[in-house]
Amino acid sequence: MYRTNTCGELNLNHAGQRVTLSGWVQRTRDLGGLTFVDLRDRYGITQLFFNMETNAALCNEARALGREYVIQVEGVVAERSNKNLKMPTGEIEIMVSRIIILNKAELPPFTIEDDTDGGDELRMKYRYLDLRRNAVRSNLELRHRMAQEIRKYLDSKQFLEVETPVLMKSTPEGARDFVVPSRMNRGQFYALPQSPQTFKQILMVAGFDRYFQIVKCFRDEDLRADRQPEFTQIDCEMSFVTQDDILHTFEGLVQHLFQEVKGVTLDKPFRRMSFNEAMGSYGSDKPDLRFDMKIHDLSALAKGQGFGVFDNAEYTGAVCAPGCAGYTRKQIDELTDFVKRPQIGAQGLIHVKFHADGTIQSSVDKFFTPVRLKEWGHLLGAQPGDLLLVMAGKRNKTLVQLGELRLEMGNRCGLRGKNKYAPLWVIDFPLFEWDDETQRFYAMHHPFTSPKSEDIPYFDTDPGRIRANAYDCVMNGVELGGGSIRIHDRTLQHKMFQTLGFTPEQAEYQFGFLLNAFKYGAPPHGGIAFGFDRLVSMFAGLDSIRDTIAFPKNNAGRDVMIDSPSTISDEQLKELGIQLEV
Ligand code: AMO
Repeated sequence: MYRTNTCGELNLNHAGQRVTLSGWVQRTRDLGGLTFVDLRDRYGITQLFFNMETNAALCNEARALGREYVIQVEGVVAERSNKNLKMPTGEIEIMVSRIIILNKAELPPFTIEDDTDGGDELRMKYRYLDLRRNAVRSNLELRHRMAQEIRKYLDSKQFLEVETPVLMKSTPEGARDFVVPSRMNRGQFYALPQSPQTFKQILMVAGFDRYFQIVKCFRDEDLRADRQPEFTQIDCEMSFVTQDDILHTFEGLVQHLFQEVKGVTLDKPFRRMSFNEAMGSYGSDKPDLRFDMKIHDLSALAKGQGFGVFDNAEYTGAVCAPGCAGYTRKQIDELTDFVKRPQIGAQGLIHVKFHADGTIQSSVDKFFTPVRLKEWGHLLGAQPGDLLLVMAGKRNKTLVQLGELRLEMGNRCGLRGKNKYAPLWVIDFPLFEWDDETQRFYAMHHPFTSPKSEDIPYFDTDPGRIRANAYDCVMNGVELGGGSIRIHDRTLQHKMFQTLGFTPEQAEYQFGFLLNAFKYGAPPHGGIAFGFDRLVSMFAGLDSIRDTIAFPKNNAGRDVMIDSPSTISDEQLKELGIQLEV
């Protein structure tokens, strides 16, 4: 028997008991004649005690233990004289009578502590050591707990968990596919699923009614803090449902998770906001509603006063930062640099300070009298002490820039606290996005998303005006999930492909299997997929999804622990009929 107890469970109630523990040596401390060893396993840390006076040989054995040695000890639980009430085991220690070294360890390349001295790359290379750290392990424990609760909730609502293939055919989720060459079908390739979208729709045609899967998805796209090339979705689909049914079911899921896992009660129903309102008031299709600071349209008030920037702009808008009128020139310059960064790309930033003493001071005093500036302040509800930040240019671009500035001001004003949760549904997305470069429409969600029935006539006149039955679940400025009611009618599906520039042959080649399935009685259906990694990182209060994943890829899409991707042998290439261009 390796152990009678774990390293996280012994307390004063066990005093006097003989126990055997196994684990890793976290650290050893020598205090003159006394030696203390912290023994760690997944469940916690227990202090081991050795006394030079009573057993010198054993004490020397303990002193010789290296960090991360795997050991087994026998001893008796005793009350500690120097208690640490912050630890569950902090009132006891083990008076050890025997040590067995189960395995020695080389000195680890970084400390296995909450605040480790290991840099990112090193931690990823030695991920198995990194995973021993509380901080990382507890994220995975949280992930496990959430997965259990998701299954519990969806099972209680009659969802069936069905697995779908990983070797499949290109899906139209909009990113690049990862492809796998087929040995048995030379010259042909599988694509890894960007999502199981087409399969879950086929399961609805097959009469499964309610499907879910916690499933790996693969997208070859540029990586960011909230993106990994392989990530996990909570993928769901339902038959005979309207948009309302779906929003109701899945805000229920989010609420259940918050309640059961975090003990946080979210208000239901979630707020719903149209895409147009989200863009117009927050400059984002995933607004952070933890704070207000809405964008206001100043165009009408700003035009016609001889200031060229405003006069020539399609749109002028502003946000009001509470209590920031005292910003120094340096702080304003920092904000100007922030909006001029290439990622944001603004030309400049204009400010108006509504000082606490009632005076107004702006960077456009030459063109606008205090009376006019007061009108601006009135429109934005500015109070004495507030700072107005104004930008002008093309409407959509300026709104997005103001949206970024709004988030930055939210950070600076401390309005984006991690323990506040502001969920909402963004609805009524446009069905299509026009791309100037390729001069064609793209599906904003994917080509199976149904248009609002009242907008169908615009297919022939103005496709850009069509709104979709699509929705995103957004929280604190993060898109947690997205979905839509699907097209279940073949004629409409053909029309959709046509608007997207597919020839009938291309549509048939890529999605013939789905169109065929639709010939045999497809029920009205719709669904959603949540980004599971994003949901876990929201619960854990992390800025990146990386530490919610046991073995993540780095920003170059590499797994530095196993050193992948890597080359394959000439034989493998030959078998696959692949020649590399060097
Ligand atoms: P969508 O493409 O919006 O929809 O993806 C759903 C959710 O998955 C998460 N997500 C990601 N998470 C981490 N890394 C990535 N690279 C990544 N890409 C997406 C996001 C997103 O909201 N089949 C449709 C769903 C449907 O219509 O039912 C789909 O995949 O949180």
